[in-house]
Amino acid sequence: MTDFTMQKGADGVAIITWDVPAKSMNVLSLDGAAVLDGFIDEALADEAVKGIVITSGKKDFAAGMDLNVIAGMKEGGATSVFDGVMTLHHLLRKIELAGMDPKTKKGGKPIASALPGTALGIGLELPLATHRIFAADNPKAKIGLPEIMVGIFPGAGGTTRLVRKLGAMGAAPFLLEGKLNDPAKAKSAGLIDEVVPDPVASAREWVLKAADADLVKPWDAKGYKMPGGEPYHPAGFMTFVGASAMVHGKTLGVYPAAKALLSAVYEGAMVPFDAALRIEARWFTNVLMNPSSTAMIRSLFINKEALEKGANRPEAPDQTVRKVGILGAGMMGAGIAYVSAMAGIEVVLIDSTQEAADRGKSYSTGLLDKAISRRKSTEEKKAGVLARITPTTDYAALQGCDLIVEAVFEDPAIKAEVTKKAEAVIPQDAIFATNTSTLPISELAKASGRSDQFIGIHFFSPVDKMLLVEIIKGQATGPRAVAKALDFVRQIRKTPIVVNDARFFYANRCIIPYINEGIRMVAEGVSPTLIENAAKLMGMPLGPLQLVDETSIDLGVKIAKATRAAMGDSYPDGAVDEVIFKLADQGRLGRKVKAGFFDYDDAGRRQGFWSGLSTEWPEADTQPELTEIQHRLMFAQSLEAVRALEEGVLEDIREGDVGAILGWGFAPWSGGPFGWLDMLGAARASAIAEDLAAKFGPRFAAPQLLRDMAAKGDSFYGRFGTGKQAA
Ligand code: NAI
Repeated sequence: MTDFTMQKGADGVAIITWDVPAKSMNVLSLDGAAVLDGFIDEALADEAVKGIVITSGKKDFAAGMDLNVIAGMKEGGATSVFDGVMTLHHLLRKIELAGMDPKTKKGGKPIASALPGTALGIGLELPLATHRIFAADNPKAKIGLPEIMVGIFPGAGGTTRLVRKLGAMGAAPFLLEGKLNDPAKAKSAGLIDEVVPDPVASAREWVLKAADADLVKPWDAKGYKMPGGEPYHPAGFMTFVGASAMVHGKTLGVYPAAKALLSAVYEGAMVPFDAALRIEARWFTNVLMNPSSTAMIRSLFINKEALEKGANRPEAPDQTVRKVGILGAGMMGAGIAYVSAMAGIEVVLIDSTQEAADRGKSYSTGLLDKAISRRKSTEEKKAGVLARITPTTDYAALQGCDLIVEAVFEDPAIKAEVTKKAEAVIPQDAIFATNTSTLPISELAKASGRSDQFIGIHFFSPVDKMLLVEIIKGQATGPRAVAKALDFVRQIRKTPIVVNDARFFYANRCIIPYINEGIRMVAEGVSPTLIENAAKLMGMPLGPLQLVDETSIDLGVKIAKATRAAMGDSYPDGAVDEVIFKLADQGRLGRKVKAGFFDYDDAGRRQGFWSGLSTEWPEADTQPELTEIQHRLMFAQSLEAVRALEEGVLEDIREGDVGAILGWGFAPWSGGPFGWLDMLGAARASAIAEDLAAKFGPRFAAPQLLRDMAAKGDSFYGRFGTGKQAA
């Protein structure tokens, strides 16, 4: 079995079908590319073949390049990357020219692509090299070039081809933002040519017509605005002024891929097509060898996928969830009900009144209606999902549930009560999970008659959008409960991390110091604008003050009071409390009340900072250096992550990095806190931490683990990169 097969039809059309064995989606490897190359040669040489259609044997066309192959090429260094990329360039250029004389643009055989569904990355770069792209009318299909999201850019000719097809400005959103489209939108944007019910039949028909060159000249069908060999029109230069500003605005200079992409486009536009392809390959090689792309591919692709596939799942039989009982139909319970029912799981949604339970279910109705209006779902699907959710106050309905997820108020007494009521009904072997965000799992487990089957499954809000789920093992939690939680997370298609029970678990534990550091700076007289910009320039999606407005200031007050009660005299965050307690006193509870650190308009859109900030905490005459602010914000999070590893709360740095990016948006370009510390190097990181500690207090003291690593010249990925190991 090979990745591609070819069938030559009696009508003279050779159909090449991509169907990688034992994979749900096609991905391209260099071996696969060699097979395709052989078929193209054969079909072009065979006089009986009039034209070629390239399609897929799966419901989608392709997910892209096999990133493990890319990672392998990197190990061979820049030359191996460049050679690998040029192999793909030669193949795609061969498909594009299809035997045509490049000077006269005469001859050649028409080649069309037929996409049954999703086509991403090289899965679109390949079709872009064909003469016409037909896609099935499948609104669920995603078409685009998402490479930029993992810190690279389309390097197999996709950049050069898309720019020649759409112009630099037209291609920019697809290349620079990795924007994905359904086929209808992809067609109106010019990414593909036709949306049809049966793409293979339409492609075949087109190929036969195009083979008669009087009807359709294959090369003309390319529609390039800048055909190879012609100099680029001077007016186009203006495009780059705009695009360059856009790149800078969007990437703030921390993502090397965007800048390199723009250079490839700019330089490529001046030269003939083949030279432009070589320029693209060089810039691609350059980006791929950059530490940021290494870190991003590692965390956002390889390790994320390993965790999703159960890298840390204990040995246990299949624990697929069939019926889940959700206690509490509030914001979280309603969201968990939605994602579960979407995954085909039966849901019993319990609240203390029928109205509250019904309201919880109607949350799903709202999300599905929105999806239907965007053509992302259908009435039929909606009816199926809603039929799976039973809202009720009756605990007897929990009979037969194999998993319970408790999401009632954050109150141990109420949680204990509902735990007992549910456990009286559910089967002996059912697993009980709590979605608590602040209460220790081992304490809550005391209300349960099955502490080895009691676990934390911590979702993030909004549940339907957030990709991470944190699974928390209590002291007594057994392996079957962990396996169940992991299987549930796989069913609802999210990414899991598994951590041990400790205050605020992992994600919140690291995000709180980030928020607190930002607030503390306000109290010190650092300009709030400077604080927010410093964070964003480091690649944090939200500055600390915006983040606290989003999560709400009363939550901050609640956490501060609880922490103070737990820590007593050693409580270090008095300066932070002074600020948030004052905002809370004035009713400025964050975006939900349209007033927090920021002012908001009636529609909830963020305006400037609240003017009261500068009267309460006047800005100091001398402001700190940008780098110092950035170090405070980044080390606040990263040192906490190291402590979590040192204490064994985190058992695997891959979980620490993936969880940080997906859970709270830790600067993705860095690959996560451990990736970032590795980029700095343990010695430098340790020295910066000690400087910060001397100036701002012991919260920045370098953990022993980091100091050990500095002394030995170790890196986190060097030491712990391959999986679970206690620090
Ligand atoms: P919520 O206040 O929106 O919902 C709680 C629901 O529980 C309400 O509908 C309430 O009527 C119901 N409830 C209360 N007592 C009950 C009882 N005895 N029997 C049945 N239902 C009862 O709260 P939210 O935000 O959904 O939080 C729920 C849990 O999830 C809490 O433990 C919270 O800490 C946790 N959590 C919250 C996150 C957030 O961002 N809001 C994030 C992650 C976890």
